[in-house]
Amino acid sequence: MQVHKAEFITSAGRPEEYPAGDLPEVAFCGRSNVGKSSLMNSLLGRKNLVKTSKTPGRTRRLNFFEADGRLRFVDLPGYGYAKVAPDERQSWKPMVETYLTQRPQLRLCVLLIDARHDAMKSDLEMMVFCQEQGLSYQMVATKSDKLGRNALQSNLARLRRVFGARLIAYSAETGLGRDELWNRILESCGE
Ligand code: GTP
Ligand code: MG
Repeated sequence: MQVHKAEFITSAGRPEEYPAGDLPEVAFCGRSNVGKSSLMNSLLGRKNLVKTSKTPGRTRRLNFFEADGRLRFVDLPGYGYAKVAPDERQSWKPMVETYLTQRPQLRLCVLLIDARHDAMKSDLEMMVFCQEQGLSYQMVATKSDKLGRNALQSNLARLRRVFGARLIAYSAETGLGRDELWNRILESCGE
């Protein structure tokens, strides 16, 4: 999949601020620093359209991007970053949950986990939330290039036992998993 035109649309907190129109949307969700922005850039074929940072927890609002006037990507603020001020941590939940439960355009939640780490409670909670809400979701293991072949295979096997067999191994560096994830996205968006 090649995206010809990718652009930032808007940053939103409350539903009134979400962009208008009925383009299908795909949300990207995961712990701070897991690689959401990098994965979105890699899907869109852009270097730094979605801002990445060495400082975790920088994305505090929902950021909407549009690809070829066909669909939108929504970068959700990361969870689980200890240094974020308590009041901001408090505001994360309603902001993200409101979007996930009250957005008819939402077709798929891409849930990111780090390929190097074991299952974390907050990631499981996120997956269970999607299941309970009846949202379509796709698990993705990021930063797969940071592991050797054997370590990656054994970690994936362990993660798949928790998060399901459909987990896609991804690398924003090498493009591993990109075609598979695009197929899933297009299929969810009815294309
Ligand atoms: P927040 O917006 O702060 O929650 O972070 P994020 O989830 O958007 O993560 P981001 O994409 O900014 O990536 C965090 C760091 O991990 C950056 O230094 C990235 O370069 C690095 N990174 C992300 N994905 C990959 C990957 O697939 N491979 C490698 N080697 N590094 C990655
Ligand atoms: Mg980010």
